[in-house]
Amino acid sequence: MSPKIRVAIFGSGTGSNAKNLIQHFAHHANVEVSWVLSNKPQALILQHATDAKIPTRIITKEDQANCSTLISELRERKIDWIVLAGYLWKIPAELCAEFPNKIINIHPALLPKYGGKGMYGHFVHEAVNAANEKESGITIHFVNEHYDEGNIIFQAKCSIDENDGPEGIEKKVRALEIAHFPHIVESTILL
Ligand code: GAR
Repeated sequence: MSPKIRVAIFGSGTGSNAKNLIQHFAHHANVEVSWVLSNKPQALILQHATDAKIPTRIITKEDQANCSTLISELRERKIDWIVLAGYLWKIPAELCAEFPNKIINIHPALLPKYGGKGMYGHFVHEAVNAANEKESGITIHFVNEHYDEGNIIFQAKCSIDENDGPEGIEKKVRALEIAHFPHIVESTILL
């Protein structure tokens, strides 16, 4: 039997997407979540990983400035794919080069709109709301060295009602994330 494909998840926040991915792959025949990393030592995502007995690591500012140690550790752990689930730091160019078309991100809007530096989480939904958009959604895409510019793998849309506000938009977008992200990650990895 060939070894399972090993996935590392990077995240900075509450980790609802990471938790969903961990659950999805918990008993998968071919894929496993092998490592969970965060730039925030207190992030709930690390607790979800620990609860699932998955090892964790903090990504420091030093890693961000020079990621050669991190890359060595990813090699030692035989990580095949990286999935960004609410990860807010830019992926250094060296790391992108180490994992060409093997880093997947989820963005809570319909790229190319509402992407780029500073566009994350509630800031995205506030901008979508302020622009009176009639729809929003999710974009799952490959990561390159430019924020939110890698090739798009999948998008799903939701309509916006007049009185949704940023919170209502976020609720709809999060439902799309929970419904689609693990399946799209799985089909992309297994392609
Ligand atoms: C998610 O909505 C994700 O799409 C978004 O951060 C949230 C993380 O939530 N990502 C970005 O905004 C990336 N630019 P979670 O920690 O509960 O999964």
